[in-house]
Amino acid sequence: MKKYLIYLMMATAVVIFGGACSPDEGNKPETPGIENPETPDESGGNPNTPGGNSKILVAYFSWGGTTQRMAEEIVRQTGADVFRIEPVTPYPTEYTPCTEVAREEKDNDARPAIADEVENWDDYDTVFIGCPVWWWTTPMIICTFSESYDFKGKTVVPFCTYASTYRDETLARIVELTSDAEHLTGEGLTSGRINEQNISSWLNEIGVIQ
Ligand SMILES: Cc1cc2nc3c(=O)[nH]c(=O)nc-3n(C[C@H](O)[C@H](O)[C@H](O)COP(=O)(O)O)c2cc1C
Repeated sequence: MKKYLIYLMMATAVVIFGGACSPDEGNKPETPGIENPETPDESGGNPNTPGGNSKILVAYFSWGGTTQRMAEEIVRQTGADVFRIEPVTPYPTEYTPCTEVAREEKDNDARPAIADEVENWDDYDTVFIGCPVWWWTTPMIICTFSESYDFKGKTVVPFCTYASTYRDETLARIVELTSDAEHLTGEGLTSGRINEQNISSWLNEIGVIQ
């Protein structure tokens, strides 16, 4: 009887952790292309921005639009400039093929090329870097991005969106990838928690807005 009980406990653990790690149907993001928010206002000049001279950039990668929503709210509240990290070769628009390409890139430690470059990089003091969690960590294109710029003297603020797991690991990975920078506490949100209130509490807490 005791033996069966132990088998039962082991099987439960496999189900819980195995399910949590894989981007399966449960982790499925919104279908790409459904959300098509307007281009964020790049005019800047938000009076909440700390110290008049501090210039902020929000750089993000988003496949399905969720991280884009979070990025746009940060931009709206801070008056930051925005840079969308776009791959030269777009990811498949279907979920399963996208997970396969993403997995292959991760397994091969790939550095997918980015289509565009940040203009006037030296002007920015603070750089928000955001992405979805992909296969327990950042998509590999975030490695490409962080290796493309000099982060000495910058302050990096990581953010991510995710379905259920690996939020903290992903934020920590962005910090690790930008080790030359100073860092402020990041934020990771699931789709339903991306709203004005949650983002303003976080930005207030880290002193980016007052
Ligand atoms: C390739 C791939 C891998 C994923 N891996 C995870 C994961 O490990 N943990 C998780 O919670 N969500 C995972 N997800 C779900 C996304 O992180 C989540 O839906 C995110 O909010 C999507 O952001 P986006 O719409 O900006 O692309 C994965 C999604 C994809 C496409």
